Amino acid sequence: MPYDMHGLTVEWNQSGPEMRDYLLFYVNGKQHKVAGEQALMPLSSYLRYIAFATGTKVVCEEGDCGACSVLVGRLQGDDINYRTLNSCIQYLYQLDGAHIITVEGLTQPNGDLNPVQQSMVDCHGTQCGFCTPGFVVAMCELYDREPSPCPQAIKDALTGNLCRCTGYQPIIDAGLNVPVEEITRLRELYPPESIRNELLAANQSEVEFVHGKHRVYIPVNVEQAVAYRAKWPEATIVAGGTDVCVNINKRGFDPQNVLSLSRLQGMNEITIDGDMLSVGGSVTLAKMEDFLREKLPQLHHLLWLFGSPQIRNAGTLAGNIANASPIADTPPAMFVLDAELELISTGGKRRVKITEFYQGYKKCDMQSNELIHRIVFQLPAANEVLKLYKVSKRKHLDISAFTAAFRVSLDGGTISDVAVAYGGVAAVVKRMPELEKFLKGKPFTLETMHLAGKVALDEITPISDVRGSKEFRNQLGRNILLKFFHEVNQAGRTPACRQ
Ligand SMILES: Cc1cc2nc3c(=O)[nH]c(=O)nc-3n(C[C@H](O)[C@H](O)[C@H](O)COP(=O)(O)OP(=O)(O)OC[C@H]3O[C@@H](n4cnc5c(N)ncnc54)[C@H](O)[C@@H]3O)c2cc1C
Ligand code: FES
Ligand code: FES
Repeated sequence: MPYDMHGLTVEWNQSGPEMRDYLLFYVNGKQHKVAGEQALMPLSSYLRYIAFATGTKVVCEEGDCGACSVLVGRLQGDDINYRTLNSCIQYLYQLDGAHIITVEGLTQPNGDLNPVQQSMVDCHGTQCGFCTPGFVVAMCELYDREPSPCPQAIKDALTGNLCRCTGYQPIIDAGLNVPVEEITRLRELYPPESIRNELLAANQSEVEFVHGKHRVYIPVNVEQAVAYRAKWPEATIVAGGTDVCVNINKRGFDPQNVLSLSRLQGMNEITIDGDMLSVGGSVTLAKMEDFLREKLPQLHHLLWLFGSPQIRNAGTLAGNIANASPIADTPPAMFVLDAELELISTGGKRRVKITEFYQGYKKCDMQSNELIHRIVFQLPAANEVLKLYKVSKRKHLDISAFTAAFRVSLDGGTISDVAVAYGGVAAVVKRMPELEKFLKGKPFTLETMHLAGKVALDEITPISDVRGSKEFRNQLGRNILLKFFHEVNQAGRTPACRQ
């Protein structure tokens, strides 16, 4: 039923099977139907205690170690696309309509170890073995996607997996020595046609169930999602769950009403029209990372530094923005790109500039009946330099202490236009209007950047916390300007590469 909302025609697919009050998914090729209390479990607990797939280990329960990694497959056309996820921060209601493969499910059809497992044995890649299933799962996903990965691709695929006793070199050696020709591809282990119709049907039906004081709803389309949001404004939206589910596991958060966006159709597209980019509200960071490789390498690089593959395979750009953390990685980039958020409710759509979205610590200009439908921004022009910075103790899998983004136009040696945003220096991510005013029209010299450092200091009010002291952040607020200057001068305007 197409209808018009604020000039934008929206097509809703109203047809589909009836509402279900149970979850339906597959584990290692077998169908599971789950209702009641079990439907509120994290996937890792369900796998270990209900499905007895105890190869999946649990250590941190907050997405940091990868011991609980599993492959989650979702329909993509006629195929099933598998990605590694942390099962400890995926609740079962996020897995409806998915196919989950655990380490047990990676055994060769003849019962032999998977070649990746055999390589771990041969290269002495395991000692206590607690981390090993997670490494095996992550490596199997890589080999399924990229049959001849380079050493860097192996390291990248394993950044979300921690090992405390073996040391990483034997594990990387195992990755480098997998006998590729012996690998049975996932689509051969689990032919998509054997479960495709069931998954398709599952993904076309809404799910709603109540258990005790808990209510969960899984819509199929945006219209259903906003209707639920209007009816239950107190419902917690769960997209990738990489923020929400950590709060459940570690901070005693007990959402009594959940609106799960995990298989929402209509918000999962990333598109480009001319130089305008549109990122749907359920697009994962991994999908965005892939899409932007050539189109916006600076943001692609920042996403490569974001969390780990497991986190990026679940987490979304909308979730990173809506979570409203002052040290979230993507908002500074969105600030200097002048991104706009398209919010949707039953009343229609409205646009908010991201620079006006944050109204105070964790306070946003978003009504309780609204969803982020998509994020829209323009790619930088050819004469603009874009640089994005993340300062953290570790390169990967670490939350930032400080972030910065610069978009600058240089006309000869003069700064003709400039946008700067800092994160980690106030209660919200900040555009830096005084700094921008100071820089505009000035010669692009080291002296200008030194003087600009003083202006920046007057504009920020960092605090001390576990990630860095106030003094450290003040220092970064000045030094980042010098780094920016040297990088632009030395490297010209080429984007930062992986190093
Ligand atoms: C181990 C680990 C590492 C991490 N590393 C990083 C990092 O390097 N950098 C970084 O910035 N963050 C990091 N994070 C935080 C987190 O991954 C990101 O904030 C992520 O983008 C959140 O997206 P999500 O879809 O998982 O959000 P969710 O947890 O599902 O939701 C987060 C918030 O956004 C709201 N929300 C989600 N989607 C919408 C929507 N469409 N409309 C309205 N509201 C919505 C939810 O209600 C909730 O309040 C990390 C988290 C973990 C666990
Ligand atoms: S148990 Fe550590 S990431 Fe899940
Ligand atoms: S083998 Fe013990 S933690 Fe990796």
